[in-house]
Amino acid sequence: MDILDIIDKKENGEKLTKEELKYVIDGYLNGSIKDYQMASLLTEIDLLGLSEEETINLTDIMLHSGEILDLNFDNIVDKHSTGGVGDKTTIVLAPLVASLRVKVAKMSGRGLGHTGGTIDKLESIKGFKTAMSLDAFKNQVDKIGIALVGGMGNLVPADKEIYALRDVTGTVDSIPLIASSIMSKKLASGASSIVIDLKVGSGALVNNLDEAKELAHLMVKIGKNNNKKTACVLTNMNEPLGYAVGNSIEVIEAINTLKGDGPEDLTDLVIKLGSLMVSMGLNISEKQAEEKVKENLYNGKGYEKMLEWVKAQGGDINDIPLAKHSKEIIIQTDGYISSINALEIGKLSRKLGAGRLTKDDEIDLTVGIILNHKVGEYVKKGETLATIFYNEKKITEEEVLSCFNFSEKPVEKPKLIIDTIK
Ligand code: URA
Repeated sequence: MDILDIIDKKENGEKLTKEELKYVIDGYLNGSIKDYQMASLLTEIDLLGLSEEETINLTDIMLHSGEILDLNFDNIVDKHSTGGVGDKTTIVLAPLVASLRVKVAKMSGRGLGHTGGTIDKLESIKGFKTAMSLDAFKNQVDKIGIALVGGMGNLVPADKEIYALRDVTGTVDSIPLIASSIMSKKLASGASSIVIDLKVGSGALVNNLDEAKELAHLMVKIGKNNNKKTACVLTNMNEPLGYAVGNSIEVIEAINTLKGDGPEDLTDLVIKLGSLMVSMGLNISEKQAEEKVKENLYNGKGYEKMLEWVKAQGGDINDIPLAKHSKEIIIQTDGYISSINALEIGKLSRKLGAGRLTKDDEIDLTVGIILNHKVGEYVKKGETLATIFYNEKKITEEEVLSCFNFSEKPVEKPKLIIDTIK
């Protein structure tokens, strides 16, 4: 077997066997297969795809390329988001479902590109530690039912290497490669059930609804093949989620949501994903779970769990610094907001310093943009459209205004939850 034969085979539209896929992954990790050879194979896969069987095999090989966590708890539920603008859902969901005795032992990422990461957001709470030993992690989950860290053990090294190469070879958007990347990491992190928030739209990795459905079915199938309860919710990412886009301002919005005073779209999403997580974790119907989730969202128990969690990880919830300056952006016209470009808002927030262009960039946790209005709302000239929170780096009023489109005719509010596949 050699890599050139394998690339040729894929180029001819033939299926690769599990042994051939293992040869590729092992060879890439031990350096005998070079970046340019792997890039060539990834490009063929991006163009021609992989069969379901190949994708399942690839996921399994990637999963076994490193450690697989055994957390010794039987009802751990994990949640994953494919990444969106203003997506602070995990910060609300994790303590909310933990307050219902569903265990959350979670690893999250940092932001890269125009989307933020939960770990950066949590670090905007003064003192919040996002790293701990495996023993401390398990103890915290045992004691208070929730722990969230940036990384743990050497999970799926194959994905770290391949993702970095995909990032610079234009192969990030391949459906089978996304499915195997996400699912290998979820399977390695020790949860018994997995809920995936698959974002669809201009601010998301996947823009096309049919492709999103294909990806959802594939991930659910991989999860079930591995004896994990798995559900995938397709959600709209054509406008930012909630109003706040940044780090500290998103945490504040998440806290308000846990106090029962959050934006409607974020609250709806939390209830939907939370109901699925609780239904899987407690083995009850989604309807019964929804009642419990709503109860703890509005009776303060979810918020109490957040306080307990933040304290356990060393954070001071009363100390979330904000940027030194703020500037309101004023609407120049009357009308209905017909669209808000999530991708561009994400990029502007990054330009203020809230996000990274490369993995090593320093970010400013205090800056960002808070929208005052969402798609479908009627606005009048002279009202505030958004507020920019900034320090040294600046953006212009025109740049923010250009993210909005207006219409004279009423515009329907976009549907947030598009579909659920389980
Ligand atoms: N998120 C991942 O973890 N992997 C991908 O390939 C895409 C999004």
